[in-house]
Amino acid sequence: MKNHAGGLEEKLRDCLDHPLFRVVSEVSGEMDVPAFVVGGYVRDCLLGRDHPDLDIDIVVVGRGIEVARAVARRLRPRPRVNVFRNFGTANFRYENIEVDFVGARRESYRRDSRKPIVEDGTLEDDQRRRDFTINAMALALHPKEWGTFLDPFHGLDDLRKHLIRTPLDPRITFSDDPLRMLRAIRFATQLDFRIEPTVFEAIRLNRKRIHIVSMERIITELNKILMSPRPSVGFLLLDRSGLLEEILPEIHALKGVDQRQGKAHKDVFLHTIQVVDNVARKSDNLWLRWAALLHDVAKPATKKFVEGQGWTFHGHDFIGSKMVPRIFRRLKLPLNDKMKYVQKLVALHLRPIALTTNEVTDSAVRRLLFEAGDDIDDLMLLCEADITSKNERKVRQHLENFRKVREKLKEIEEKDAIRNFQPPVTGEDIMETFGIPPSRTIGILKEAIKEAILEGTIRNDRREAYRYMLEKAREMGLEVRKNLMAAEEGASPEDDR
Ligand code: CTP
Repeated sequence: MKNHAGGLEEKLRDCLDHPLFRVVSEVSGEMDVPAFVVGGYVRDCLLGRDHPDLDIDIVVVGRGIEVARAVARRLRPRPRVNVFRNFGTANFRYENIEVDFVGARRESYRRDSRKPIVEDGTLEDDQRRRDFTINAMALALHPKEWGTFLDPFHGLDDLRKHLIRTPLDPRITFSDDPLRMLRAIRFATQLDFRIEPTVFEAIRLNRKRIHIVSMERIITELNKILMSPRPSVGFLLLDRSGLLEEILPEIHALKGVDQRQGKAHKDVFLHTIQVVDNVARKSDNLWLRWAALLHDVAKPATKKFVEGQGWTFHGHDFIGSKMVPRIFRRLKLPLNDKMKYVQKLVALHLRPIALTTNEVTDSAVRRLLFEAGDDIDDLMLLCEADITSKNERKVRQHLENFRKVREKLKEIEEKDAIRNFQPPVTGEDIMETFGIPPSRTIGILKEAIKEAILEGTIRNDRREAYRYMLEKAREMGLEVRKNLMAAEEGASPEDDR
């Protein structure tokens, strides 16, 4: 953001560059109703933040719905207008832009509010009831005042000071909508801003009120914190404000250090958020970030002090992965393949490091490839991010070991193609060969073949697997169907896949 006045004017002019604003302006002039662009669009435009998809909020002083309709009629192609009469709002999608029209209101503003509103306020009433000063700046669109910057709560100063502040007494702003406490932390994290001390204090005092907010709205903000460049900023603020304990008790439980016989373990909370930051630097996969947040979630439940050894957390990988569904369900996160992915990474997060402490055998690498499948690269990324030791020598040693594991993974994958393992002999092959119906025997044979491949007894190859199956079946007393005897002689099915 440029500081001198000329810079600002130029910037504001650029903010209204889109032809859409000209159309709103024409309509506003012809109907003679004041209209303004406000909120996140103005904030992000002044910050020079780019978005692939834009959200534009237009406040109209009276007749918001009519203005929306008139604007839509002039656009080509003409967008379909959704009208929410009870809320005095209307919106449409135009190109890659979501455009919302609201009547200026005296009551609290919230885009996702389900409460009917009364649209009888002035622009300033509307600005006053918004969440933060940086979200309450407006630009006039009526031709008579085109481009006038309206900032009664000094949002621009706060943008320059990198400050999150509420237009009203924060207790009022937060009681209008307690989600705003979490939004304050989300904006501070995304933008790397400070929260003004009185605002932060109000969050601390009102933290329990977060429970009246729906989990869906909470999770939207948590995901935005996780998707920020340095999520740890947000988690530290969540902790200091007391919100962490309210909304993520499992993560709050990771805090603290125990000492016994001069041995301390590290603070798992601080370690965890550092791992999340490390992952965030390498990948913008939200679910990998969730996996990082939850990778040690079972450490409190598995913590033990063992004489002569110190603190142990045996099984925290396995127990942690079992805890994931409950946490996802409570947080209303999807219970689909995203959850399975997080579970898998939590379950396997110690495996690559375990590989490096022993001699790296081919079969151990094959088993890891088999279990991780296509998520092996993300798993390796998580494991590298998990190294947060301050001891440089140790870090270097770990990274060198990981380099070796990666090499070995590549070598084995090229040779054995385990990553997307498909059984080289199928259940149908087995039924066909022995003339048997679906039964447990088929599972046993398939498992034996898979084990032999992972152990390296045979290669991942149809011919070898078929031969191996015949051998195993003979041991189990199974007989090959008569008309297939010839094939057994050749020990090969018709097609070699
Ligand atoms: N707003 C508010 N209180 C809320 C939510 C939103 O006052 N609880 C106001 C703010 O003025 C905000 C605008 O509504 O700028 C739009 O809300 P939203 O789209 O949720 O946020 P943005 O500020 O646009 O930010 P982002 O796109 O990053 O979510």
